[in-house]
Amino acid sequence: MAESVTSNIREPQPTPAKESRFSELAIAELEEIASHYPERKAACLPGLWIAQREYDGYLPPAAIQEVADRLGLSYSEVEGVATFYTMYNLRKRGRHHLEVCTCLTCAVKGAYDVVHKLEKELGVHVGGTTADGEFTLSEAECLDFCGAATVMQVGDKYFTQLTPDNVKQVIDELRNSPDYTPAKLADSIVKVLVPGASATGGGSYSAEDLKNPAGPML
Ligand code: FES
Repeated sequence: MAESVTSNIREPQPTPAKESRFSELAIAELEEIASHYPERKAACLPGLWIAQREYDGYLPPAAIQEVADRLGLSYSEVEGVATFYTMYNLRKRGRHHLEVCTCLTCAVKGAYDVVHKLEKELGVHVGGTTADGEFTLSEAECLDFCGAATVMQVGDKYFTQLTPDNVKQVIDELRNSPDYTPAKLADSIVKVLVPGASATGGGSYSAEDLKNPAGPML
């Protein structure tokens, strides 16, 4: 039987319930950023980073709605931005989001051996999250550190020169770390935009950090 011509039409989605999770500091950061632009919508990208930090490292519909409300935009405008850039998390990640570069240089240097070792070690496939919520495993495009392949980003840290033999050491180190790395990454990015504005305890890049990335440098 022929499919109805209306079968592809999506039902209107309900408006997300409104939440107000931005702290006073987060509101101050957003206002400071917005003050640098002639239009408030220019603060949409940093606004989403602030939301990703305030909403535990990801952007549920309520977070998108809060950014829209604070910047005077529609939900669909902000949702369009949040769904375009892959660095925004639209679903909750593990406490550590392992993003292994499998682009050309890292692939040649054995990135997939590292990925398979991580899958075995964690008991999840790429895209999965461990049952205890500690780790989410993903593949990433070039992390711009090709000279130190294989490279893995975890929040605001880069682990370099990974091999199947040394990834367990990294996993153990992360297990013992108290950080919630998706939120820490968002905090670091906001602080780059508003130097010194945040007192949330997250990390922040410094020239020294970038010269000395975390993890094995073998
Ligand atoms: S190819 Fe992996 S960091 Fe560039």
